[in-house]
Amino acid sequence: MWDAMASAPAGWPHGGEDASVHALQALAAEMTGKQAALFVPTGTMANLLALMTHATRGDQVIAEASSHVFWSEEWGYAYVCGLAPRPVEGTRGRMSPEQIRDAITEEHLGHRPHTGLICLENTHNMAGGTIVTPEHTRAVADVASAYGIPVHIDGARILNAAAGLEMAVSALVGASDSVAISLTKGLSAPYGSLLCGSADFIERCTVNLKRLGGSSVHKAGIYAAAGLVALRTMGPQLADDNRRASVLGRSVQELGFGAIQPWPVETNIVVLSIDGGWLPARTFARRLADAGVKVSVRTDDSVRLVTHRHITDQDVDRVIGIIGSVASTH
Ligand SMILES: Cc1ncc(COP(=O)(O)O)c(C=O)c1O
Repeated sequence: MWDAMASAPAGWPHGGEDASVHALQALAAEMTGKQAALFVPTGTMANLLALMTHATRGDQVIAEASSHVFWSEEWGYAYVCGLAPRPVEGTRGRMSPEQIRDAITEEHLGHRPHTGLICLENTHNMAGGTIVTPEHTRAVADVASAYGIPVHIDGARILNAAAGLEMAVSALVGASDSVAISLTKGLSAPYGSLLCGSADFIERCTVNLKRLGGSSVHKAGIYAAAGLVALRTMGPQLADDNRRASVLGRSVQELGFGAIQPWPVETNIVVLSIDGGWLPARTFARRLADAGVKVSVRTDDSVRLVTHRHITDQDVDRVIGIIGSVASTH
């Protein structure tokens, strides 16, 4: 990636002069089977643009209750876009089509908010890297289209889902109107996300990107060159990341002091719930950090472990050993 960045043709992306940005957007559009794509600085900005462009101020947005777009983007949907959240508690991060229909049609005292967008997350981060299958997305899109509502996928880790199901990204996102892909997670690029959708949608997003201050990244081709390497070469790595997370999850489950939830592990995220809270998650995470293993605290009694290209098979064995010894001290 560094080599590609060092030799990248780079220009002014806003005028379409930057060959690397152009190539990256074309590749992302092709991979997702959408007409066009837009290179933006972050996944959060890609989601914000999708919300801003699909929905109209005053609309409600339906998304899963623990979705990134509702919890981890500082309420940008409300602060910037004037939208209201309609959270739906999913199972393994998946809202059922029936729940979505109910949320669309729900009425209180003769009032029914207008739904401007349905947002899915694939894979679902807080649910533990769970996959939304293409059949499920299609069923949701069928409900959405019956009410004329677009569907956006926060696909920050959609390539992990594609690797998990051994299918093309385009097959996973075919029923959606737009999808946001992060280049910076397992794909390991230093910068950027891609928002993909119809040509008309992306054209409107381009205007909104300027309004958000994100369209004039000078020499963006330097970043786009890394993104091209990521999209072209990192797919097999994500399959390895998924496999290693599965080994990690199975082995930690067998240690018998906590549960991997949800079980089984579907992609590269492993959520470990500590049985009966015998050790607060923060203390557990600190003890692991002292032994050289970095995990994130997810709730008071659960931690999140993620595999990526820096985590080898040997690292997985080492982590299992360290978790085992921390657990045995209780
Ligand atoms: C599911 C999901 N969507 C969006 C994002 C936001 O991506 P970024 O950090 O590039 O803004 C993240 C980041 O962790 C994420 O997990």
